[in-house]
Amino acid sequence: NPATQENLQKLRQRGVHIAGPALGHLASGQVGPGRLLEPAELIGHIRTILGRTGDLAGKTIVVTAGGTQEPIDPVRVVTNLSSGKMGYALAAAAVGRGGRVILISGPVTIPAPIGLSQYVSVSTAAEMRDAVMSRLGEVEVVIKAAAVADFRPQKAARGKIKKDTTSLSLALERTPDILAEIGAVKEDRILVGFAAETDNLLENARRKIKEKNLDLLVVNDVGRPDIGFHSDYNQVTFVYADGTSEETPRLLKTEIAGIILDRVASLISRRRGRP
Ligand code: PMT
Repeated sequence: NPATQENLQKLRQRGVHIAGPALGHLASGQVGPGRLLEPAELIGHIRTILGRTGDLAGKTIVVTAGGTQEPIDPVRVVTNLSSGKMGYALAAAAVGRGGRVILISGPVTIPAPIGLSQYVSVSTAAEMRDAVMSRLGEVEVVIKAAAVADFRPQKAARGKIKKDTTSLSLALERTPDILAEIGAVKEDRILVGFAAETDNLLENARRKIKEKNLDLLVVNDVGRPDIGFHSDYNQVTFVYADGTSEETPRLLKTEIAGIILDRVASLISRRRGRP
């Protein structure tokens, strides 16, 4: 109705945040914009509004999430079990603290959080690398929760590979190490990596944090079925650049995301206080 549209316009001009309407089936039997938003979406809007005065207000933050898919042929890929839950929880929490959040995501089945500044959908490690590196100029914090494939088929077959042999060998090559590449041009950015380990967790983490020039490495034991890939829960160890470490209890990924951002916020304020 023109009167409703006019009133909405007036409210927008007065700075009121309008949430919705959602598209879908309406009580009138028609399909279109007119539905109340789902509760999760409403919470997303509320979180965005409340976040405006949060401790990450004005900070541009890149979060990567999900696994990458490296093509073998047009219908098959090399991938991993990442659901994107950890990275999406981080992106939503960062929005809720006022961050301008750019979420760069591999293929996942969960909805993107409300209030993102940008959502970039990628498939391969090479695409994720380009998406991250091309945005680095404007970014103050990078959090790399994505499970990037370490290896990809040397050459993707152009046609579907036939199953007329009893075995098949794939020659693999390394993908670009995005975290190491960012570490090499890091300057004043806060760089947070994840480490998905099954053995010698701390030993490997202390080596990685130095090699890749990170401020914080979040280590999770992906051999445990009750945390890590796909689970709603995680238990992590933070390893800092000076080699010290700190363990969290097993918590929801949404709670772990909040603790990670607490650490990021204190790294930012420590950096700001530096002569
Ligand atoms: O998505 P979920 O189901 O919620 O699961 C969450 C998770 C287990 C995927 C997440 O908590 C996690 O551990 N993410 C990192 C997984 C990983 O790739 O770990 P890694 O140890 O192989 O890599 C170390 C770091 O280097 C990561 O920050 C990764 O993003 C980065 N990397 C890896 C390879 C590569 N070619 N480029 C990279 O930048």
